[in-house]
Order: sequence, then C-alpha cells, then structure tokens
Amino acid sequence: MDCFRIQGGRPLAGTVTASGSKNAALPLLAASLLLEGPTRFRRLPDLQDIRTMLELLQGLGARLSREDGGGGELEAASAAMGGDGGLEVTCPAAGPTDAPYEIVRRMRASVAVLGPLLARRGRARVSLPGGCVIGVRPIDLHLKGLAALGATIQVRHGVVEAEAPRGGLVGGQVYLASRWGSTVLGTANVMMAATLARGRSVIDAAAQEPEIQALGEFLNRCGARIRGAGGPRIEIEGVEELHGDEVEIPADRIETGTLLLAAAATRGEVRVEGCIPRELAVLIDLFERSEVPCERGPDWLQVSPWQRRPRALDVTTRPYPGFPTDLQAQWLAFCTLCEGLALVSDTVYPDRFMHVAELNRLGAAIRREGGLAMIVGPTPLSGAPVLASDLRASAALVIAGLAASGETVVRRVYHLDRGYERLEAKIGALGGLVRRELDEDGA
Ligand code: EPU
Repeated sequence: MDCFRIQGGRPLAGTVTASGSKNAALPLLAASLLLEGPTRFRRLPDLQDIRTMLELLQGLGARLSREDGGGGELEAASAAMGGDGGLEVTCPAAGPTDAPYEIVRRMRASVAVLGPLLARRGRARVSLPGGCVIGVRPIDLHLKGLAALGATIQVRHGVVEAEAPRGGLVGGQVYLASRWGSTVLGTANVMMAATLARGRSVIDAAAQEPEIQALGEFLNRCGARIRGAGGPRIEIEGVEELHGDEVEIPADRIETGTLLLAAAATRGEVRVEGCIPRELAVLIDLFERSEVPCERGPDWLQVSPWQRRPRALDVTTRPYPGFPTDLQAQWLAFCTLCEGLALVSDTVYPDRFMHVAELNRLGAAIRREGGLAMIVGPTPLSGAPVLASDLRASAALVIAGLAASGETVVRRVYHLDRGYERLEAKIGALGGLVRRELDEDGA
C-alpha cells in the first residue's frame, strides 16, 4: 500500500493541465455497451476507477484496443494508460449480462451498466452496491426509472435482476428525485436505457450535472434523439440502433477545483489550463467573496497569492450548479486557513465528514454536528501522520499537508488513486514536495 510523504509550508506555483473527468468518463464508457461498432475514447484519465470500469466491460464481452498499440487486444489494466492514440471499445450486441459483486463492491459507478445492458441485451444482473464510507447511497431511483420503461425488476440475494419486456423497453415518464434531490448516475442509467426504448420517454427532475450533458451530446452523435440533457427535463425519442463514434473526455472540474484550493491554501500562484471555468462558477464566486484573487480565461483558471487573509465563508453542498459535494472536504481544508467562523453543510451526503477528525489531527479546529461542520480559523497546521478514508477526503488531507509546517504522511492513498491522475506529479510540477512511498506499516 502506498502513502504520500509531504513536506509542507511551500506555496505552489506554476501551470498544470486538467485531466479528463472521472465522473464524465465512467458513464461514457458504460454507454459503449449500447453502441454498434467501435467507440474511440480520447483523454481518458489513467485512474483506478477507469481500469475497474474497463475490467467490468471486458467481463461483459467488450474488446479493448488501441491504434498505437498494434491493434491487439489489451488488458483493462494497461488499456487505461492513456496515450494519444486513444482507446477503442467495441461491445457486441449479445454477451454476458452480469456485473459481479467482486467488481461492484470496488466501484459503485459499476451500476451505470444496468441501463445499457437492459436496453441492448434485454436483461441485466447487477450486484447491489451497498453503502460506502460517504453515506448510504441507495439506487432506488435508478430502479424506479428503469421500471417506468417497462423493465421487471427484482432484488434477490443482494443482486438486482432486471428484465426488459419481450419486444424490448418501452418509452415512459419518470420523476427522478427523492428528498435528497436528483441522481446523477440514476439519470445517466435511465437516459441511456431510453435511447433504445420504443417510443418517447421523459425524465423530470433529472440531474443537471455537466457529466449528464456530455453523455447526452455523445449519445446524440451516436444516433440517439435526446433533448434537454443538462436541464431538469430530458426528452428521449427511442431509436432502433446506435453506432459507435469518437469522444474526448471533458476536463475534470473536481480535479481543477482541488488544485485551485491547494493553491489558495498555500498562498500560491497556480494556473490550471484545459479546464472549463463555467462549470466552477460557484467556486470562482467563493474565491472572489473570500478575497482570493482568481482570474479566468476561456479554458483556464488562475489563483494568485492573497494579500489579506481570506475570509471564512459558509458553504452548503447542492446538486449542480451548486457547490459540489465532491469539493466539500477540500473546501474544509482551505477554510482552516481562513479568518473567522465557517459553517459547511453537506445536503447531498450528510455523513461525508470522515476527514474532519484527520484535519483536526493536523491542528484544525473543526466541530461536526450531523451533516454540519463548524470551522474556526485560522489555525496553524502542523504536519502529522493521517489516514485517508475516501477519495475526496484524501485530497483534503493532501491540501492540508501542503499548507502545514513540517512533514505529513497521508496513508491509504489508494483512495486518491481511484480519482486523481498522478496528483503527486502535478503538485511536484508546481513545486510542492510530495513523495509516493511504499507504506511499510500501512494497515
Ligand atoms: N440517491 C437516492 N436514490 C438513488 C440515488 C441517489 O436517494 O437511487 C441519493 C444519494 O444517496 C445522494 C444523492 O441522491 O444523497 C445524490 O446521489 P447521486 O445518485 O447523484 O450520486 P451518484 O450518481 O452515485 C455521482 C458521483 C459522485 C458524486 C455524486 C453527487 C460518479 C461516478 N459519482 O454519484 O462522485 O459525489 O454524483 O454529485 O459520477 C466522487 O467522485 O468522489 C463521487 C463520490
């Protein structure tokens, strides 16, 4: 198991390029199950979660190949390694329909194959993902949406067994929110399934995240007839068949936000290129209000050193375009450097606060009450060994370690490797001292 050894207290400075988005890439890869012929993916980030999705697709009969790889078949582990030639994924119409627990338990986003399998192969058996460290995370809305398209669904022995009617899925209407709000992967699942259903489908209260818009645009290029993806109401006219195409994975807005927050926390000067500034309007606004200089260009964002200590600001996570839950932990880490009291609540995942105790080990003064964290700052941070509990919590600990004096060791960085492409190299290029090491006594 690896850990990060960080020598903190140095401002980050320089320019980095955003990687392709994990959360856009995962449903786009799952969508290849719907498509006749090969699909070429470009700017796929080299991440553990991408390798897991490719392994799942291979198990479902997908062929993976790369132009510059001699045309031969690839193992999932090496297929995700990027490369300018891009990766080609071809999924036959007939094939296995099981997403086994062994893979689903490693990555919840495996559930995104449910809709495509059902639509193209008529049935799907997908293990129930269960809870995870950030919360309960049910999939009831996914199932409700697929049932609205005529699927028969049973959950037995921890497995979702779904079957399409004899003539295939039929168009339907579904309202896709619970009291928490809508669901990103649930919207993706139902939208993908509806592309091949007979007739017209409508998804109301759809998730409006940019990843849904990217998926809708890609599927339309493959022959789908989707209107409104990225808005609250999506209308889909089913078609007989979809064909493969080419897609470039859009920039990762959460990685960009993480790097900018690391810059702000270290009083650094960092430009992230190749990103999509409008997707981070909420973070730009927060920087402006807390008086962290932040400039934007058409495809770049830059944070510069603050002159006055930034002001602490309250934040509530909300579905897009609100403040993303996937930046909550990193925002908390930044808040420890700010002046005043900040209240941070997570309405999307009220239990996503495992990082609080670890940030406090570094000297933060954060109190948690249910889905609310109260931070009093500024508190000087001092390096210590800490344990990462999940992907974004790991990123928050890296930010805090970079801002802290002395040495911080972040253990269990395999969480980080699920969703950040070579983060230590990017931070290293910005002058941060982060070394990946084998954690001899990491349990
Ligand atoms: N929910 C339900 N029923 C459902 C589905 C969701 O009640 O059937 C609830 C969830 O419990 C949660 C809320 O709805 O409270 C939102 O969950 P959502 O379904 O939107 O989450 P997701 O689609 O499973 C994606 C991202 C997460 C991100 C969330 C919220 C991917 C692969 N994952 O998950 O990303 O936190 O949306 O924006 O896109 C991460 O990257 O670190 C990560 C966890």
